[in-house]
Amino acid sequence: MIQIQLIADLKKCINEAKTTGKSIGFVPTMGYLHEGHMSLANQAREENDFVVMSIFVNPAQFGPNEDLDKYPRDLNRDIKMAKEAGVDLLFFPQVNEMYPQDGGITIRAGAQANVLCGASRPGHFDGVLKVVTKLFHLVEPTRVYFGQKDAQQLAIIETLVRDYNFPLEVRRVPTVREFDGLAKSSRNVFLSEQDRKEAPSIHQAIQLGLEHYKEHQNVDEAKKVTKQHIENSTSGNIDYVELLSYPNLTNDISSNSSVILAVAVFFEKARLIDNMMLNNKGE
Ligand code: PAF
Repeated sequence: MIQIQLIADLKKCINEAKTTGKSIGFVPTMGYLHEGHMSLANQAREENDFVVMSIFVNPAQFGPNEDLDKYPRDLNRDIKMAKEAGVDLLFFPQVNEMYPQDGGITIRAGAQANVLCGASRPGHFDGVLKVVTKLFHLVEPTRVYFGQKDAQQLAIIETLVRDYNFPLEVRRVPTVREFDGLAKSSRNVFLSEQDRKEAPSIHQAIQLGLEHYKEHQNVDEAKKVTKQHIENSTSGNIDYVELLSYPNLTNDISSNSSVILAVAVFFEKARLIDNMMLNNKGE
């Protein structure tokens, strides 16, 4: 596995892959890899000739009071895991390599960012769009891989790619879960023993809410069922429980909309998110 920290070195490798006609699969991450990232890398491996993974804890997507400094990091372990997943090139730049100067030009997400995590994390998705735009230009991928766990991020990146004609395909990869249903996340390490016991209730609550929605098509009642289950079985504080159209993320739900039931819950030291979707056939 090639390990690179400088953009100039990355460009050389990408040019070589391109001139030899290789398709490039790209998995952008913030490191502290877990099985969710591995499933992104595995799918990239299956579908492409050359697999690039980036590890960059992107300061632009953290608010002033968020966990940038505390975000878990373990580069040596990540390098081992990336190798095992068959990654060909690992790119892990420093912040001043990625953002050497600030010309004041910003990329701003649209209305899709006003709900769910975007509502409680102002500017977060603008920061995500900033880094992925840069990374997409640097890596020139044929296909990029994002997890459905971050469904809002996925929807916003799909919109960026569509509206600005990025020459790449966005691949959606299903959420990977622990044995008890808890969605894999780098932030799960912050859960106390008690929080970890309670956290799988989030997934159960979403399942119950969606079952209710499938049967009764009543958005408010489905959200109520979801909330009640979380409140009755965890000590966490609900940030949001929303049932919206997908990928537009609006309340405008018609019989042929795909929908998402998405939840965020604050535990003592971690805010967990999870979601499930129903397509327009109700599956
Ligand atoms: O999903 C993440 O880990 C990050 O938001 C991403 C897409 C790597 C951008 O920093």
